[in-house]
Amino acid sequence: MAGAILVAYGTKHGSTREVASAIAETLQEHGLDVDTFPAAQVGDLSPYAGVVIGGAIYMGRWHPDAVGFLERHRHALAATPVAIFGMGPRTVKEHDVRAAREQLLKALGKVPEVDPTAVAIFGGVIEPHTLRFPFNRIPASDARDWDAIRAWATEVASAFTFGKPALEARDHRSELQQTPR
Ligand SMILES: Cc1cc2nc3c(=O)[nH]c(=O)nc-3n(C[C@H](O)[C@H](O)[C@H](O)COP(=O)(O)O)c2cc1C
Repeated sequence: MAGAILVAYGTKHGSTREVASAIAETLQEHGLDVDTFPAAQVGDLSPYAGVVIGGAIYMGRWHPDAVGFLERHRHALAATPVAIFGMGPRTVKEHDVRAAREQLLKALGKVPEVDPTAVAIFGGVIEPHTLRFPFNRIPASDARDWDAIRAWATEVASAFTFGKPALEARDHRSELQQTPR
């Protein structure tokens, strides 16, 4: 595949940026040339042959920088391989992942031009000392599964490299798995 891969992210407290970095590292390990940027800073997608866009979910809404990115680039993204992830339930139990996935899919439903190759939900991070009352009463947790994150990035690398629906994600909008089959 000619051209670099963009990994863009929307974060409030940094955990999504760390996941984006791990995904970028994995893509690089698979021989891809990768740029990683905050989604709000990306103005031009023309250098990119593939895009990963991730964002934290807060109060049922995908991060506004991720939503804005998809809306701003919806036409370019209609013609570019795209992989999407959302953060992040407090556990990766099916019930929690399903709820977060529904929240993410609601945001994706507003940009039907974008037909992602893969959609994933990763567990999130709660650091109570960074939050205001009453959220600072939530116990600290980190549900990120780095092996699952890297495995997903490996599948994305494969899909981007071969330019075919290697992840069998055609019906992704109704799937509930954390990672594509
Ligand atoms: C006030 C608050 C609301 C949240 N709402 C949701 C939510 O609706 N769905 C979800 O999956 N995660 C939710 N989360 C979890 C965050 O997505 C998680 O903490 C994530 O790792 C934050 O990413 P960031 O560090 O990149 O900002 C919420 C967290 C906080 C503190």
